[in-house]
Amino acid sequence: MSNVAPAKRKILVTSALPYANGAIHLGHLLEYIQTDIWVRFQKSRGHECHYVCADDAHGTAIMLRAEQEGISSQALIDRVSQEHQQDFARFAVAFDNYHSTHSAENQQFSELIYTRLRDKGHIATRDIEQMYDPVKGLFLADRFIKGTCPKCKVEDQYGDNCEACGATYTPAELIDPVSAISGATPEVRSSTHYFFKLPDFATFLEAWINDDHVQPQIRNKLMEWFESGFNEWDISRDAPYFGFEIPDAPGKYFYVWLDAPIGYLASFKNLCEREGLDFDSYWQPGSDAEIYHFIGKDIVYFHALFWPAMLHGAGLRTPTAVNCHGFVTVNGAKMSKSRGTFIKAATYADHLNPEYLRYYFAAKLTSRVDDLDLNLEDFALRVNSDLVGKVVNIASRCAGFVKKLGDGRLSSHCAEPDMLARFIEAGDEIAEHFENREFGRAMRLVMELADEANTYIADKAPWALAKEGGRDQDVLDICSMGINLFRQLMVYLAPVVPQMAEDARAFLMIDSLDWDSRQTWLGDHAIMKFKPLMTRVESDRIAAMIEASKEDLVEEKKLKEAPKGPLAEQPIADEIAFDDFAKVDLRIARIAKAEYVDGADKLLKLTLDLGGESRQVFAGIRKAYAPEALEGKLTVMVANLAPRKMRFGVSEGMVLAAGNAEGIYLLEPHSGAQPGERVS
Ligand code: MSP
Ligand code: ZN
Repeated sequence: MSNVAPAKRKILVTSALPYANGAIHLGHLLEYIQTDIWVRFQKSRGHECHYVCADDAHGTAIMLRAEQEGISSQALIDRVSQEHQQDFARFAVAFDNYHSTHSAENQQFSELIYTRLRDKGHIATRDIEQMYDPVKGLFLADRFIKGTCPKCKVEDQYGDNCEACGATYTPAELIDPVSAISGATPEVRSSTHYFFKLPDFATFLEAWINDDHVQPQIRNKLMEWFESGFNEWDISRDAPYFGFEIPDAPGKYFYVWLDAPIGYLASFKNLCEREGLDFDSYWQPGSDAEIYHFIGKDIVYFHALFWPAMLHGAGLRTPTAVNCHGFVTVNGAKMSKSRGTFIKAATYADHLNPEYLRYYFAAKLTSRVDDLDLNLEDFALRVNSDLVGKVVNIASRCAGFVKKLGDGRLSSHCAEPDMLARFIEAGDEIAEHFENREFGRAMRLVMELADEANTYIADKAPWALAKEGGRDQDVLDICSMGINLFRQLMVYLAPVVPQMAEDARAFLMIDSLDWDSRQTWLGDHAIMKFKPLMTRVESDRIAAMIEASKEDLVEEKKLKEAPKGPLAEQPIADEIAFDDFAKVDLRIARIAKAEYVDGADKLLKLTLDLGGESRQVFAGIRKAYAPEALEGKLTVMVANLAPRKMRFGVSEGMVLAAGNAEGIYLLEPHSGAQPGERVS
C-alpha cells in the first residue's frame, strides 16, 4: 500500500440526454448503467465526481407527439421527465442532477454560445429550399415525407432512403410525395437558415480527434468523414417549433441538436447553483477538471465534431474524452417489438431484479464500441453462477458458524494473512480495469477471487470440522476469513450492484464499502444474521417479461390509432357543399317551457318560442338540466327539420348542443339575439 494519498480528481460525467418523447428501454440502459458504474467507482475512490443528465425536450417530434396526445408540449415533457427519472431510479442510476433542455439555464447558455460564435464570424445565413406542408403550416424534415421510391417504385417510403431497395435520394426526387403528418402534397418553399461554419474548425478538430479524446475506432471513423470534407451545419428551424427562439432572428428556432449538448452545461450549472460548486473551474479553458461524455455510437458526429468546435469557438474548454459504446441486441438480433425483445426499463423492472442486468452488462462491457448482445439464456446462467453461486455463496456458507460459534462476532485472528493481502492487492488491478472502462475484465478478476475464496472454504470444510468435533475457534477462524474475503469482493462489486452492496454493508455492520475501506482485517466485529443477498434468476420471469413486452406493443398501437380529444372521437364528417349548408334553417329560439317526460329518462319536452311561432321539441338533455333552469333561456334550433314521430309525441325540430362523456352543453347566443332570427 502506497503512503502517498492519490490526488483527488475533479470529474464531471454525463450520459446522453434521452429524448422526451419515449420510454427508457434496455438499449438506453446500457449507457446509463455503464456511466453510473464508472461514476460510482470514481466516488468510491474518493474523487470529486459529478454525474449530470437531463431530458432532451425540444424538436418537432416532441411537438407532434404532444399534439397527438392532445396536451401541451410542456405537459408532455413534464410527464416524461417523471417517468424517465422513475425508470433510472429503479436501476439505481444515481444522477447528481437531472434537468431539462427546456430550462432557463439552457436558454442562457444557448444564447451565449450562439452570440459568441456569431460575433466571431462563425455563423452564416443562407436561403434554402425545403418541403413544406401547406395544411400543417410546417417545414418537413425528410422523415416526415413519404412517397414512392424513384428507383424501385415501391410505395410508402420515407423521405431520404428506401427500405425496400436501399436507395438514397432527396425528398424532392420521391414520386408522389405526401406529408406523413397531414397527408397533404408538400410544396417546395424557400426560407432563410442559420449555419454553423464547421469548416472554420477543421484544423482544430483534426488535432483534437488525434489527441486521445476519442477511442481508436472512433478516430478512424472521424478521419474518414474528415477526408470527405465538412459542410456547414444548419442550426435553425422555422416556427412552429418547440425550442428556443434565436436571439436576433424572430420566428427562427435553434435546431434541437444545437441546444441538446448545451444541456450538459445547463444541468451542471443547475447543480452548481444548488450545491455551491464553482462552474467556471470546470468549464474555463485551462481547467484542471476532467470532463467525460458517455454516448452511443449513433451520435458521435454531434459529440466529437460539432460539440468540441462549438465549445472551442465560444471560448470554453473541450471535453477530456467522449466515451462511445455500441448498441444492445437481444438474443443476437436488433431489439424487436413483435418478438417481445424491445423491452422497456419499467417492464423489465416489473419482472426481474435490475441488478441482474447491471451485472450482466458489466460482465460484457469493454472500452470498445462493439455491440453488446443480451442473450437471455446466457444472462440467467451468468448471474446465477457468478453472483448467486459464487459471491453470495461465500457469505451464506460462513455466516451461520459465526453466529453459532462466535456469538455473531468475527474472530480477531486472521487465519490466512497472505491470502487477505492478495485480495487487497488485486484491488489495484481491478481499479485499473474500472478506470479504463474494461468492466468485463474487472468482473472476471472478481470472479476469479470468488472462486479462490470458495475453494479455500471447500478445502477447509468448516462444516465437517464442526461435525468431527474440531476446535470451535478453528471453525470460527475459517468462517471469519470467508466473511472477510466476501467483504473484499463486495467492495469491488459495489459500483456494479449497489443495492446488493448496501445489503451486504448492513449485514457486515460497517460504515462503508469504499475502495479504501478494504485495507483492514475485519476482526472482533459483530455482524448481523445472514439474509440471502440475491436470489436466482428464474426463467419463467424472463418469459413473463417477454410476454409483457409484446403487450406493451399492443397498448402502444391502440394509443396511436386512437389519439385523444373530441375531434378524434367524433371525426369531422364528410365535406358538404355550401348549398347543402344553406338548406339548414337555424333560428334563435326562446325556451318558453321545459318539462319532464314520463317514462323517458333522457328526454325533456321543450316548448320553443320562435318569435310568434311555437314549436314542441324533445331533446336528450334531461341528464344535464333541471327543467326550471332552462325556462326563459335562448338557444339555437334547426327549424326546418322534418317532424319526427316519437313515442311521446311529435318532435318539430332540434336544439343544438355539444356533448361528451362528462356532460351536455346547450348552445346559447350572446345576449341581444331575438327569438326567430335566422342564424347563419
Ligand atoms: N437526445 C439524443 C441525445 C442528445 S445528447 C446531447 C438521443 N437520445 S436517445 O434517447 O435516442 O438516446 C440516448 C442514448 O441512448 C444515446 O447515447 C443512444 O446511443 C443510446 N441508445 C439508444 N438506443 C440504444 C441501444 N439499442 N443500444 C445502446 N445504446 C442505445 O440520441
Ligand atoms: Zn426503392
